[in-house]
Amino acid sequence: MKYVFILVLGIVAASGGLLGAAAVFRFVDNMTQTARIMPGERNFPMPAGVVPRGGELMIPREQRDLAAKRPNPVKMAPPSIEEGQQHYTVFCAPCHGPEGKGGVTGPVATKFIPTPDLTNAEFQKQRTDGYWHHVIMTGGAVMPAYGETMSATEAWHIVNFLRSIAAK
Ligand code: HEC
Repeated sequence: MKYVFILVLGIVAASGGLLGAAAVFRFVDNMTQTARIMPGERNFPMPAGVVPRGGELMIPREQRDLAAKRPNPVKMAPPSIEEGQQHYTVFCAPCHGPEGKGGVTGPVATKFIPTPDLTNAEFQKQRTDGYWHHVIMTGGAVMPAYGETMSATEAWHIVNFLRSIAAK
């Protein structure tokens, strides 16, 4: 009789423990296992004509031709160039070099891909302000996008800085 009692007690304890463990496992696990969307995992189509609050309409990367036609809303002036240079030094100089000369003048470019010489006069003539602004916001063939890092206005300041270093 004594052994039956101990056996039953053991079975009750074991099933209780198992249920408890299952509850704990599900509680701990379901935060990581449930269906969810990671940042940047998916682009939701926005209803037509919607503009983000406090933001600016972002032209998708595929529509660079359209973006290239946008005029530069920020006046080319020393304060703008100065601000552009500050952002350029932080975000762009590692790859494009402190003076925009490209090649491997930027420390990262030696390990990544040599960059074009942004001061090149022909290149400067070929590209519109809108085009370069769009490259900064949405990225190039391999160049990363900076649309989530800086505001559209900050990117225009950088474009003005790039114009100021054009080779004469
Ligand atoms: C990780 C390295 C890297 C960083 C950081 C980077 N670039 Fe680039 N950039 C490149 C490479 C490589 C190219 C050439 C290939 C391409 O277009 O992707 C390029 C191309 C360009 C072009 C020429 C696009 C064209 O075809 O007319 C411009 C302008 C430019 N970058 C500006 C910037 C600015 C401004 C920043 C900072 C906001 C920046 N880049 C940051 C690597 C970089």
